Amino acid sequence: MPFSREFIEEVKRRSEIEDVVGKYVRLKRAGSNVVGLCPFHNEKTPSFTVFPQTNSFYCFGCGAGGDVFSFIMRAEGLDYPGAVEFLARSTGVPLEERHDDSGRPTVKRERVLDCNREAARLFYAALQSPSGAQARAYLTEQRRLTEQTIRRFGIGYAPDSWDFLHSRLTAKGYTDEELKAAFLCGISQKGHPYDVFRNRVIFPIFDLNGEVVAFAGRRLNEKDERKYVNTSDTPAFKKSKVIFGMNFAKRSEAGSLIVCEGPIDAIALQQAGFDNAVATQGTAITADQVRTMSRFVKTVYLAYDIDKAGRNATMKAINLFTQVGVSAKVIDLGTEVKDPDEYIKKFGADAFRRRLDASAGQVDFRIDEILNRYSLSIPDEKLRAIDELTTLAADIYSKSEREVYIARMAEKTGISAAALSEDAAKKAKKAEEKQKAERRRQTVNATLGYGDRINRDRLTYATGALLEERLLACMLSNPALAAEACKSLSEDDFLTAFGRKVFTTFAEEFSDGTEVVLSKDGALTPEEISALARLMAKHDRLLSVMPDDVGSLVGALKTERQRIAFNERMEENPQDALEEYIRLKRQKKTRPGDGGEA
Ligand code: UTP
Ligand code: MN
Repeated sequence: MPFSREFIEEVKRRSEIEDVVGKYVRLKRAGSNVVGLCPFHNEKTPSFTVFPQTNSFYCFGCGAGGDVFSFIMRAEGLDYPGAVEFLARSTGVPLEERHDDSGRPTVKRERVLDCNREAARLFYAALQSPSGAQARAYLTEQRRLTEQTIRRFGIGYAPDSWDFLHSRLTAKGYTDEELKAAFLCGISQKGHPYDVFRNRVIFPIFDLNGEVVAFAGRRLNEKDERKYVNTSDTPAFKKSKVIFGMNFAKRSEAGSLIVCEGPIDAIALQQAGFDNAVATQGTAITADQVRTMSRFVKTVYLAYDIDKAGRNATMKAINLFTQVGVSAKVIDLGTEVKDPDEYIKKFGADAFRRRLDASAGQVDFRIDEILNRYSLSIPDEKLRAIDELTTLAADIYSKSEREVYIARMAEKTGISAAALSEDAAKKAKKAEEKQKAERRRQTVNATLGYGDRINRDRLTYATGALLEERLLACMLSNPALAAEACKSLSEDDFLTAFGRKVFTTFAEEFSDGTEVVLSKDGALTPEEISALARLMAKHDRLLSVMPDDVGSLVGALKTERQRIAFNERMEENPQDALEEYIRLKRQKKTRPGDGGEA
């Protein structure tokens, strides 16, 4: 069941696109619009544009576009209802009850957050209760966490029970379905609900706004098979987006972040005074997490585990951070411990600080990583190492920076800096040419309408598609003009399936002259919504040189449709087609002033 129109209108009215986007993107004014670095792809110069006039956004770089709802869908990884609820919650519009196809109420993000908060309280209380004694001892003695740290991070204890949470949360009115959707309970094959977290210390995971979105549970009994049980994706949580500890670290004045693998590492570092420590859960850092961090800092220190997986994760992270213009440094923790938590316990905060200050830049780390893989005494391997090194050097944009690292490479390989430099310059030039050719190819294809997966009829109806797109852009951008156009426009006037789909989706709003919600009911795909946002963005640019004239666009579209229909009939049955054509012409002549040709 979709949301009511009034509800959507209210949420939309209270969610100014500039404010909503402004929480994710640093926006700058550019004429009547605002621009910033796109949160959906990696870029260093802004092509992401917000159009306050039409409440839409479009990125000229990656083609993502839409309205506030589609923005939140992408930014928070939610579906359409999830995004609507997200904005309703943040703007204080009371939620409507909704149902899924089978008539059962669907579990809302808000409900999941509420029961997470309850669960976090119960876990916390359990840790402080007599039954939590062993867990408390584990945290304070083995992990050396202080009472203050436990309180600050809301660390708790899930008792060794199948229904600790279930019994208490159902008593508070949460249903089995809600608890399952929140990943707090599972349902056995026989249909019995049971707690997911049992006999574990619990680390709540907060999002940037401080809401409890998930839990990580570490085993207390080393014989338990799984070391960690983590919340999987729920209506309120996407693991690939959330950064543990970021709710605290975002307030740090360090101007940088320390990125670890495990929540417990981030907690240990924060307790030791590094209030900018955060963690991804495990080694898999994602582009989304990296982009979020890049909103807050320009430098990160990577402090992954001292093992193969940690080194690979470091390489991946360096690549991702470089793409968003964040400088990544790598902390070398030596070989005596396996992660930052152990390091702090063994050597203390001051030693960690020294390691931090001495951390290598990303290029040095990469140089060493390459040299470690080859043995330079074997000519063939040496050549391959040099090949990789010059590729790395070619990637460094600043010329002087390139010089510095080439000098270091020369020193380590015994090859002259001049030779390395020449090779690197050649590679850089080649890469640039390749990029240029690719951009040319894309422009040509876009102009010809090849590969338009959204409007597949574009090649068949080139003129029609163009007219439709201009007309729809006009109507989507200007409700009053849409209402005017609707007086003489119907679904059948559209030649392309895409044009028809867009028109029918918004027929009601168009004819009422009310502003359209592009992502309405999830009727259009994110790609289709982006395509419309692109049309609107183009329209916005055209507006200054070409005024809107829906009347003539509608007329031209109708004429085009008649022309195509005539051509089709000529192919099928020329005789009939011609007779009909002549009949029509005569009719028009006998009715002067009808708008036909004189
Ligand atoms: P580690 O095995 O290094 O754990 O995994 P850790 O954080 O050092 O934990 P302790 O010190 O042994 O208590 C690093 C991270 O990988 C994820 C967790 O987020 C963990 O913090 N992980 C690890 C899992 O999700 N599941 C696992 O079974 C293991
Ligand atoms: Mn550890």
